[in-house]
Amino acid sequence: MNHPQLTPEDIAARARRVSALPGVVRIGAEQVQASDGRAEDPVLRDLRFYRGLTDMRMRTSRESEWGVYIAESSKVLRRALDAGHEPLSFLMSDKWADDLADVLSARPEVPAYVAAEDVLEGLTGFHLHRGALAVMRRPRPVGLADLLERLRPTASSGGAPRRSRIAVFENMVDHTNLGAAFRSAAALGVDAVLVTPSCADPLYRRSIRVSMGTVFQVPWTRIGSWPEDIRVLQEAGYVVAGMTLGEGAVELDELVAEDHEALALVFGTEGHGLTPGADRRLDRRVTIPMMQGVDSLNVAASCAVAFYATR
Ligand SMILES: C[S@@+](CC[C@H](N)C(=O)[O-])C[C@H]1O[C@@H](n2cnc3c(N)ncnc32)[C@H](O)[C@@H]1O
Repeated sequence: MNHPQLTPEDIAARARRVSALPGVVRIGAEQVQASDGRAEDPVLRDLRFYRGLTDMRMRTSRESEWGVYIAESSKVLRRALDAGHEPLSFLMSDKWADDLADVLSARPEVPAYVAAEDVLEGLTGFHLHRGALAVMRRPRPVGLADLLERLRPTASSGGAPRRSRIAVFENMVDHTNLGAAFRSAAALGVDAVLVTPSCADPLYRRSIRVSMGTVFQVPWTRIGSWPEDIRVLQEAGYVVAGMTLGEGAVELDELVAEDHEALALVFGTEGHGLTPGADRRLDRRVTIPMMQGVDSLNVAASCAVAFYATR
């Protein structure tokens, strides 16, 4: 549906402005029907990345294999570009192409597919409330050693010990929780996030959206060997503290009072909490006391509390 305030003349003028932008390619229902991935046509090849966006299982297994991720909404798209990520194509209605004219004009080499809203819905499988989508190239993953190296004190800081905070998300499976946890990490000064091999994908559309694009701001990597790599953190000088509801844990205030220069906080999966393998290797086991007989906090809520307390 078109915006109610716009007259037919406004809509026609907008369509002309959009058609004059570099990179704009108008697509219709025929291309959407043909974009099944087998086509040799470059337009159809680009469009197949937008197909089946609501199929979470397929997307989570295929996007990293394809080396891409989907940025959704103009705000997220701008944040991804600000972070230096490379767009491979854009997809949007006239309304959002007009709104993103500066972005499209600055990247004339990137195809910007523009279509009517029902055509977009036919392709992606959902109504694009937030307007714009982009297929982005996944940034090359940074290794754990490189990431830790970047957090070390540098000569320019006089080599003085640098207060450092790392968050480790062990097997967090819910993309909403993961996005919310990244948002807290960014807002509360966590220097880097590590996700374990079975953790959900921080670059899945929903994680990015819930994080408000902060997954592009906080340096993060996927750990190759978990829980063995807890040792790598310890050797780099981090006190590794697991957030747990298990027996014998100290209260968060006690950890805060210890005031560690370098602290890595490990959070467990939504269902079962920390794995026994990780639990055994921890330097500290820490709990956030709760009231009213509540048995646990949502994992993203526990991240916000712990990040703030230990900042
Ligand atoms: C929903 S909880 C998992 C509950 C699970 N039944 C257990 O016993 O750990 C998910 C994660 O959030 C963190 N968490 C939640 N509430 C917490 C609390 N009160 N104190 C410390 N960590 C907490 C822990 O890292 C936990 O592994």
